[in-house]
Amino acid sequence: MNAPLSNLQTRDLASVLHPYTPLHKIHETGPMIIDHGKGVFVYDTQGNEYIEGMSGLWCAGLGFGDEELVQAAHEQMQALPYYHQFGGKGTEPAIELAEKLKELAPVPISKVFYTSSGSEANDTQVKLAWYYNNAIGRPEKKKIISRIKAYHGVTLMTASLTGLPANHRDFDLPLDRVLHTDCPHYYRFGEGGESEAEFLTRIVQNLRDLIEREGGDTIAAMIAEPVLGAGGVIVPPAGYYPAIQEVLDEHDIYLIGDEVITGMCRTGNWWGSETMNMKPTTISVAKQLTSAYAPLGAVLIPEFMVEVLEAQSAKIGTFGHGFTYGGHPLGCAVGVKTLEIYQSRNILAHVRSIVPTFEARLAKLADHPLVGEVRNSGLVGGIELVADKAQKTPFAPAAGVGPTCSRLLEGHGAISRALGDTLALCPPMVITADQLNTLFDRIEKALDETEHWVSNEGL
Ligand SMILES: Cc1ncc(COP(=O)(O)O)c(C=O)c1O
Repeated sequence: MNAPLSNLQTRDLASVLHPYTPLHKIHETGPMIIDHGKGVFVYDTQGNEYIEGMSGLWCAGLGFGDEELVQAAHEQMQALPYYHQFGGKGTEPAIELAEKLKELAPVPISKVFYTSSGSEANDTQVKLAWYYNNAIGRPEKKKIISRIKAYHGVTLMTASLTGLPANHRDFDLPLDRVLHTDCPHYYRFGEGGESEAEFLTRIVQNLRDLIEREGGDTIAAMIAEPVLGAGGVIVPPAGYYPAIQEVLDEHDIYLIGDEVITGMCRTGNWWGSETMNMKPTTISVAKQLTSAYAPLGAVLIPEFMVEVLEAQSAKIGTFGHGFTYGGHPLGCAVGVKTLEIYQSRNILAHVRSIVPTFEARLAKLADHPLVGEVRNSGLVGGIELVADKAQKTPFAPAAGVGPTCSRLLEGHGAISRALGDTLALCPPMVITADQLNTLFDRIEKALDETEHWVSNEGL
């Protein structure tokens, strides 16, 4: 892995500022340059093969090198490489994809607003919430509730909604109008002797208290990933969403479903909201919408909100929001083909058929001395490493146990992502049971090596 740097790597080292990277260390190891991919595998410039256990960043759901997607992109680039949606213009792929999304949506949706990313989709969600409340004469109803450990993006507002310290520290965030409520993670936040049901009751009560303290008439919406992704793959307790939605409904606070990771079959249903019994009013999608072959995000908007936007436009003369690349024809054409493939290849049935293998292998890992908890929803999972299993004691973050394990795993030919000390897994949905077993065999080796490293370091 730490082979001498090729010319390409040397150039890259000097020119790319790597996101979410310990910038002070990258000079020691150099970046891993990924050169090509096929199916669930990617290959670096040294010729090493890796099972991509994270679908890149939870997004390449159909794996790499899918000829049908490449062909769809190629044809669109030839026909119309760019056009936009401003001023009443449009493109056929954008309309076709919007129609398809309306058909698939888990709740009634009237229109689709396009962006290029998940962050832009969630940022748009907040702007819509504010605009809507101004339009209907509720200018005070503006705050947005999010959760500790949530991840909603990196723009100023979505990083504010994100509930992770590294996204706030020294960026002068969070902005105001953002409230963070409890993280629905029983293993980490349940109190001594508290049952999961008691934990649920407590965090629902905390939400109620927060709303009453702030005043329900100052809060527009709550945003939630059905299953929290980048915060450590956290699956809320059963009954969580119906319970919090009852509280939100009492105060006319609507729920924004952030389906950027969980949408498109990932959790064993088309939508994470279906899996988690959540009833969002609006929805954000991105990532697997195009299987990441082209950048695209979207906000799915219900009719009652569209009516207000239209009425406001009649007053102002326009709807003053839009991105140059929102609904890029390349992204939309690839999106249309991606959804078609999910259906024609019955990816949902495939996911459901391999989830038992995924869960069985995760369950086996739970016995490992370093593993505190394993968790999953469909084909997205997390393996939390701890210093003391019985006490659930975490390692000191600076020890870098999770990142070390992930690096050791790369040495065995597989890629996961260390979210602190939780190893995240989100393999391409086309992975076979055999390939999943190989991935887990490699994880077991990496965990054993990490255990040796931990004891040698005296951690
Ligand atoms: C749930 C969720 N929302 C939003 C985002 C932000 O998406 P993007 O990185 O495309 O801006 C992410 C990215 O990982 C995400 O996981």
